[in-house]
Amino acid sequence: MVKKYVYGNPFNTEAVVTSIPKEEGALTAGSVSTDKGYTWTYKMDADDIVYGLGEANRGINKRGYIYVSDCSDIPDHTEDLRCLYAAHNFIIISGQNHIGLFFDYPAVITFDIGYTRQDTITVHCNEANVNLYVIDGDSAYDVVKQFRKIIGRSYIPPKFAFGFGQSRWGYVTPDDFRTVVDGYRKNHIPLDMVYMDIDYMKDYKDFTVNEENFPDFKGFVDEMKARKIHLVPIIDAGVKIEDGYDVYEEGVEKGYFCKKEDGSNFVAAVWPGRTHFPDMLNKDARKWFGDKYKRLIDAGIDGFWNDMNEPAIFYSDEGMAELKDFLKDYINDTEEKIPYFAIFEHVGKIKNSPEDYKRFYHNVDGVRVRHDKVHNIFGYNMTRAAGEAFERIAPDKRILMFSRSSYIGMHRYGGVWTGDNKSWWSHLLLNIKMMPSLNMCGFLYTGADLGGFGADTTRDLLMRWLAFGIFTPLMRDHAAAGTRKQECYQFENVEDFANLISVRYRLIPYLYSEFMKAALSDDLYFKPLAFVYPEDEMAANVEDQLIIGNEIMIAPVYTQNAKGRYVYLPEDMLFVKFMGDGSIVTEEMSAGHHYIQVALNEVPMFIRKGFCIPLAQPAETVDAIDTAHMELLGYDGASYELYEDDGIHKDYDNGANRKILTK
Ligand code: GLC
Repeated sequence: MVKKYVYGNPFNTEAVVTSIPKEEGALTAGSVSTDKGYTWTYKMDADDIVYGLGEANRGINKRGYIYVSDCSDIPDHTEDLRCLYAAHNFIIISGQNHIGLFFDYPAVITFDIGYTRQDTITVHCNEANVNLYVIDGDSAYDVVKQFRKIIGRSYIPPKFAFGFGQSRWGYVTPDDFRTVVDGYRKNHIPLDMVYMDIDYMKDYKDFTVNEENFPDFKGFVDEMKARKIHLVPIIDAGVKIEDGYDVYEEGVEKGYFCKKEDGSNFVAAVWPGRTHFPDMLNKDARKWFGDKYKRLIDAGIDGFWNDMNEPAIFYSDEGMAELKDFLKDYINDTEEKIPYFAIFEHVGKIKNSPEDYKRFYHNVDGVRVRHDKVHNIFGYNMTRAAGEAFERIAPDKRILMFSRSSYIGMHRYGGVWTGDNKSWWSHLLLNIKMMPSLNMCGFLYTGADLGGFGADTTRDLLMRWLAFGIFTPLMRDHAAAGTRKQECYQFENVEDFANLISVRYRLIPYLYSEFMKAALSDDLYFKPLAFVYPEDEMAANVEDQLIIGNEIMIAPVYTQNAKGRYVYLPEDMLFVKFMGDGSIVTEEMSAGHHYIQVALNEVPMFIRKGFCIPLAQPAETVDAIDTAHMELLGYDGASYELYEDDGIHKDYDNGANRKILTK
């Protein structure tokens, strides 16, 4: 049962696709005050668990901290951080009752979940213009399924996107890309994608390619295709200000950039230097920007990642002028009256400043809207621009798309990666915990930068992270410029990496099938244990093991130098260990606590009692996976419903896509 409460005059984010009449009766969960902005308060029971918030910091159970939806370009995901790149304003309170709440509000909003007072949730935003959806359900899982129905089907990528991808900020020339492909192919490490970070462009100009480096870009895309590699270029939100650059000139001429109060185009500095932001909230501008992806699609590109779309601002013209002014005072301050930390503060404040987000406007169907009031839906609408364009450009084909910033609703147009993490063990654990929460908010095609983006990785961290990444729909190794080289072939005993990633390819028929079934029925791909074993009190405490699809449970190792880990089995299960030599060892284990030994080059996994899963032979590309000759791993007599399609087109509901396999 979903009820919609309308407060004030909310902005239509189009996050919800089902039409739900406005509820006239009293609010059934918590209470609302509209005295100072909008405040929703709720008293929790001692044992209530709070799920949700999608891409957010900390645990699966969100209790005990404060989270802010304020899409930010923030690379240091330390434990005290309150906001990340996304705004996923959906929570589920689960205890005696099970209640879902979606605060559909596109500006900054705070979720104090037992931070100020242990037993109280306070959700606050500055303006009392909110659509609040309240969902009553039989369980947390039931609430999530009802929510997913009203926000529409999740984005489905092409099947190749389930392969492994290599990325690094700093590949510049065709030879840089060839070296990566050679490194993987020579060592027989499976690979389907190589990502093109900003250096493929000419001076970081969107929809351009540096022609000095790539005199025949289409030819290069074809060369890679012949080697079964999909190149996936990045697209940034800001359009470089440069005379003669057609995207800039067209945008200016048509009035498609975000404007300041005086009507001039707002200037924000990002990678290309000074840029304008396309007005992603303006339908015409969105169509115009989306159509530009065609240039790369025409060259054979079939996947993209959208970045810097919070939108990130290194500095604005105004911010820089203010800083210079301040520094001038400092330089002239011969008596040293200005404390040195005031300089740090001023310099630090220039990036992603809330003041800048008040300096520009959108044109939403003829109405001028100040950016800070809709800040959290900019990235969503950038990805929507692309998604809507893909429907026009290639209506039958799936195109890979994922974004850094997002809001619920964007899940229909693309996946997300979780941004600039670090090569920290704690970020591997954060990655594990974030996945089911993202799924609850509709984001199924997700993954983190495996090995860590910032800081220098270590061989063991990369291996353990890959052993978890095997199970994330987006499986990509990505690293920042200046960090230690992180491609799998850079490390000793490269055959260990080949073996780990081969496990992914052996599992792709199963993982793809479970992903598709989840997407087609608005279900979860990753579930917390408590969703599957609601009666099991112990299961509710486990945050470092996850259920995938219907059949398996994973328990990744995420601690340095650990030789294994403790695992909790809510029921009898089959322990499956993919060994370093390609063989598989299985052992039936009874419900309860166990310690499992897991060497660095091994992948642990559990099959739930009475189930089986299909397993293919190793392959080096998704195309080469032979689904006609698969074995079934698991319990004798068990059956599995396999979903399989060509992975390219959108003929999802064809009955021939499903078949029953019996062991
Ligand atoms: C941002 C992205 C990162 C990318 C870098 C350069 O930091 O999050 O993935 O490598 O920009 O484009």
